[in-house]
Amino acid sequence: MITTIQQLKAEIENLTASTNEQVEALRIKYLSKKGEIAQLFNAFRDVPNDQKREVGQLLNELKESAQNKMEALKAATNSSAGQTDTTDLSRTGDPVLLGTRHPISIVRNKIVSIFSHVGFTIAEGPEIEDDWHVFGSLNFPPEHPARDMQDTFFIEKNPDVLLRTHTSSVQTRIMSTTQPPIRVICPGRVYRNEAISYRAHCFFHQVEGLYIDKNVSFADLKQVLLYFAKEMFGENTKIRLRPSYFPFTEPSAEMDISCNLCGGEGCAFCKHTGWVEILGCGMVDPNVLEACGIDSKVYSGYAFGMGVERITNLKYQVKDLRMFSENDVRFLQQFEAAF
Ligand code: PHE
Repeated sequence: MITTIQQLKAEIENLTASTNEQVEALRIKYLSKKGEIAQLFNAFRDVPNDQKREVGQLLNELKESAQNKMEALKAATNSSAGQTDTTDLSRTGDPVLLGTRHPISIVRNKIVSIFSHVGFTIAEGPEIEDDWHVFGSLNFPPEHPARDMQDTFFIEKNPDVLLRTHTSSVQTRIMSTTQPPIRVICPGRVYRNEAISYRAHCFFHQVEGLYIDKNVSFADLKQVLLYFAKEMFGENTKIRLRPSYFPFTEPSAEMDISCNLCGGEGCAFCKHTGWVEILGCGMVDPNVLEACGIDSKVYSGYAFGMGVERITNLKYQVKDLRMFSENDVRFLQQFEAAF
């Protein structure tokens, strides 16, 4: 009996385990109610009386050292898991932080892509302009209110240096340097001296289009705008053109689309009219062609211009224009999945 106890004690001293499950299996093997040590305690009854004292003491020591050993093994597996293997495969993954495109960029890119599919190329020009490119060449009479200090930002008190109020200035630059056929769209930022509110800002973005060739007609304009409206707002979108006035186009029109929220039924968004305005357009005024050195007897053309913020609002119902320039990530992150 004494040798069995000593052997078992040595055996337990040398035990190793690398996981909690293994430690538990060893505990059951040695220390459970039917385990090896319990069996020795059962056999204790048959130990002759004169040996009981010595054997009993050894048995108690065996049990105690086995318990200590199990505790030690358990502690070792727990801490070694933390020490040697730093990867915790059960942890939830860290989210990968992806930047998002600005909603204005998303919508501008979409507009550009729609027109590039029908042959328009992109043209860009400076934001700091002169009077001739922004107004003079575009048939604005000298007394036109759009030249007024209240609308236009002038620089260094020099009325010939100003921030462009529309990207039509890029069209002028193209027309005065290129002969037709011309088919361009001009995306860009423009500036107007407006009081900042939820519906107006001192800068915003436009995309303007220009097509000049022989025999360009209003029907061509209408067709390209219908194509754009369907691509941008869906196949069922309808358009309507209302007569309007711009100094640089004649005739001029404003275009509405059937309200994309109620489908034309009438709702609060379209003020119960079923229509929402999205852009201005018209046939390029012969005066503009001539001012840019294009023979208006040979060539004709159309132009249109739209505000990117306006289109973005229609697509995403952003109620406050100022959100576009505040760069609040909670706002921007909502566009992660857009387009
Ligand atoms: N330039 C005009 C504006 O800023 C838009 C426009 C462009 C209208 C071309 C007609 C033709 O409002």
